[in-house]
Amino acid sequence: MRLKTLALNASEDGFRMAADLLNQGELVAFPTETVYGLGASALSERAVAGIYAAKGRPSFNPLIVHVGDPKDASLYARVDRLAQVAIDTFWPGPLTLVLPRLEHCVLVPAVSAGLDSVALRMPNHPAALSLLRASGLPLAAPSANPSGGVSPTTAAHVRDGLGGKISAILDDGPCLVGLESTVLSLTDMHARLLRPGAISRDALQAALGQTVEVPGDEDVPSAPGQLVSHYAPSARVILDASVRPKGALWLGFGPASLEADISLSEAGDLSEAAARLFGALRELDDMAEPDQIIAVAPVPEMGLGVAINDRLRRAAAPR
Ligand code: TXA
Ligand code: MG
Repeated sequence: MRLKTLALNASEDGFRMAADLLNQGELVAFPTETVYGLGASALSERAVAGIYAAKGRPSFNPLIVHVGDPKDASLYARVDRLAQVAIDTFWPGPLTLVLPRLEHCVLVPAVSAGLDSVALRMPNHPAALSLLRASGLPLAAPSANPSGGVSPTTAAHVRDGLGGKISAILDDGPCLVGLESTVLSLTDMHARLLRPGAISRDALQAALGQTVEVPGDEDVPSAPGQLVSHYAPSARVILDASVRPKGALWLGFGPASLEADISLSEAGDLSEAAARLFGALRELDDMAEPDQIIAVAPVPEMGLGVAINDRLRRAAAPR
């Protein structure tokens, strides 16, 4: 069934309408500082099932539950000293915590995909926080794209992928960070980095005062959703192209690739590159002739470059 996907804006009326739809168990995409999320009430079986259906998401891949107040974490999960430090230091912000789920917690089991943990995040975005407040709900929200595809950083990206399948999109312009949140597991007194993001491993280790492990085995997804091929455009992607391969589209980074079709950042600025990455992959995908490949210039493996390269490697992984 095709729905009419309403366009809402970040105004009192927009928040009210979006909140009403969410309370009726409908799906509403909304902006966060990282990427747009596909929101649904985390208290409704039907709404959460709707997320998996709209995205074509495998049912073993759990969802992040978004909260509007740091104190809400302890309604749903066991927050130990380490988790409290992470919350106090990084929320609101682009850090998702995977914590032990409270046994009688009101969140529907499907948000955890059968695991005894739950992923929680308080986004740092005024429209997301207004919507959380207006709805009074914890909101399950994966990135608002068909499963396996490139995450959306504008409302138009959301409409491209999910228009006709969801009730509304709350538009508040492009996302400033542009990469999905860092996912940190704190389930067993060990800190494990499940997905790199804007909050770096170094920043986490400094705040927590202990080592953050990085699960290394690439064949076993560290988070259920960290399948090797992910965040992928339709065209084939190759990496570390310091010159344009013959016939390829070229995605540049820094002053050494000014001849590229699109540059992530001509100045070589990693924040700018992160914010542009997913939009640039979409644009190049649209430009590509059948069988034309997208070649990406090297991005340094430091700071935000770690998260950018993680997404690029998944975009380039064999499908
Ligand atoms: O920035 C973000 O995190 C965005 C915005 C909308 O908040 N959301 C997002 O959601 O990227 P999604 O579903 O695309 O990615 C969530 C990641 C997946 O890799 C998933 O497997 C992992 O978090 N995850 C969720 N719950 C988990 C759990 N209980 N244990 C381990 N990993 C979990
Ligand atoms: Mg995603």
